[in-house]
Amino acid sequence: MIIEEMTLTDFERIKENLQIDFDDFWNPSILKSELESKNSKYIIAKENDEILGFAGIIITPMDVEITNIVTKKSQRKKGIGKLLLGKLIEMAKQTNLETISLEVNEKNCIAINLYEKYDFKKIGVRKKYYNGVDNAIIMTKVLK
Ligand SMILES: CC(C)(COP(=O)(O)OP(=O)(O)OC[C@H]1O[C@@H](n2cnc3c(N)ncnc32)[C@H](O)[C@@H]1OP(=O)(O)O)[C@@H](O)C(=O)NCCC(=O)NCCS
Repeated sequence: MIIEEMTLTDFERIKENLQIDFDDFWNPSILKSELESKNSKYIIAKENDEILGFAGIIITPMDVEITNIVTKKSQRKKGIGKLLLGKLIEMAKQTNLETISLEVNEKNCIAINLYEKYDFKKIGVRKKYYNGVDNAIIMTKVLK
C-alpha cells in the first residue's frame, strides 16, 4: 500500500463511480474544485494501481481542516482509514499551525472512533448542520 498525492488524473479514474464505490454524499464537482484549490491537499491510498481511499485537508490561516477521509466500501476495516489519517496529521504538522480540526455527523460512530483513536477531542456541536437534521460534532487535535 502506498500513500501519495492525489492528482486530477486520479480523480478522473474514480469520478464515475465515486458515490457507488466510496461514499454516497460525495459530489464529484466539489472534489474536483478542491483538488484545484491551492489551499487544499489530497492524498490517495493505492495498491496494485487501485485507488482504495482518499483524504484531504484545507489549510486556513487559523488551522488545518480535514475535508474528508473515505475508504472504498469494499476495503473498509483493513486499516486504510488509519493510514490516511496518520498521513494527514503528518502533513498538518508541517504547516506549523497549532490545531487540526474537522466536522463529523454525530451519528457517524465509525469515523468518530477513528478520530478519537488519534486523540481528536470533541469541542463543539453545530446543530442540524447536515440536511437541516443531523448535528455536526466539531473535533480538534493539538498538533504541537
Ligand atoms: C470512516 C472510514 C474512513 C474508516 O475507514 P477504514 O479504512 O474502514 O478504517 P480503519 O480500518 O483504518 O479503522 C480505523 C478505526 O475506525 C474505527 N472503525 C472502523 N470500522 C468500524 C466499525 N465497523 N465499527 C466501529 N468502529 C470502526 C475503529 O476505531 C478502527 O480502529 P481499529 O481497527 O483499531 O479498531 C470509512 O468507514 C469510510 O470511508 N466511511 C465513509 C466516509 C466517512 O464517513 N468519512 C468520515 C467523514 S467525517
